[in-house]
Amino acid sequence: MLLGVNIDHIAVLREARKINDPNPLDALPICKLSGADQITIHLREDRRHIHDNDAKVIIEQSSLPVNLECSIDEEIIDIVCKLKPARATLVPEKREEVTTEGGLDVKGSYKKLQKAIKKLHEHEIEVSLFIDPNKEIIELSSKLKVEWIELHTGTFANVYAMLNSNLRNTHHSIKDLELSKKELSSKLDASIKEIKKSSKHAVKNNLKVAAGHGLNYQNVTLISTIKEIEELNIGQSIIARSVFTGLKDAIIDMKNLIK
Ligand code: PXP
Repeated sequence: MLLGVNIDHIAVLREARKINDPNPLDALPICKLSGADQITIHLREDRRHIHDNDAKVIIEQSSLPVNLECSIDEEIIDIVCKLKPARATLVPEKREEVTTEGGLDVKGSYKKLQKAIKKLHEHEIEVSLFIDPNKEIIELSSKLKVEWIELHTGTFANVYAMLNSNLRNTHHSIKDLELSKKELSSKLDASIKEIKKSSKHAVKNNLKVAAGHGLNYQNVTLISTIKEIEELNIGQSIIARSVFTGLKDAIIDMKNLIK
C-alpha cells in the first residue's frame, strides 16, 4: 500500500503569516528520503494555501509523482491541464468549508465531470474521483472511465474519533455525540465494511482504489488491512506530528504503520 503525503498544511502555516516560510517545496526531498510514494496538493479555488506557483514548482521539481486535487471548475481544470501533474483528483469544493466534506456528487455533476475528465485525459493526466464509499457512485465512476477512485474515509475517521473520545480530531454533529459506545461501535464496523465492500466493487469495475481523509496514527491500521486499497493520501496528521518529530520521522512512522 502506497503513501501519498499531502503537504498543503505546510502552506497553511506559511499563510498564517503571508510570508515565504515554511516553503512546501522544501518538503520534497524529505518526503522522498522518508519513503513517501507520492506528493499530494490541493489547488483550491480560493488559493487559501497552495498557490499556482507552488503547484508549478512542486510539479516541476518533484521526483515523486504529484497528485493534484482540484474542483471541476473550468478555469481550474484549464490551469491543471497546463500544470500537467501525474494525476488530478477531482474533489467537491465549497468556499466556506474547512476541509473537503463528503465525496463528489457524481450523478448530479455527471456532464461536468465528463467534460473535465476528457480535457485532463487529452493532456495525458490520469484522473481520480474523490467519492463516498457507495456502489452506485462507483459504477458511475467506472462509466466515466477514470483510472482511480479515492474513497472518502471521513465518516470512518469521525466515528473512530468519537468512539475513542478523541473529539478534537474531528468535525461531528450533535446528533452523533448522543450515540452510545455500542451504537458508535456498530457504526464503526459498518463504515469499515462499507469501505471494504466498495474497494472490492471498484476493483471489479477496473478502478484502482485510493483512500483518504482524517486518517491518522491511531485509525490507519484498520484501513491498511483492506488489500484492495493501493494508496492512502494523508496530510493533517503527518504534518501535525512533524511539528514535534520532524517530517522525516512522521512519514517513517506512518509508513511503518501502513506496512
Ligand atoms: N484526500 C483528499 C481527496 C483530500 O481532499 C484530503 C484533504 O485535503 C486528503 C486526502 C487528506 O486528508 P487529511 O488532511 O485529513 O489527512
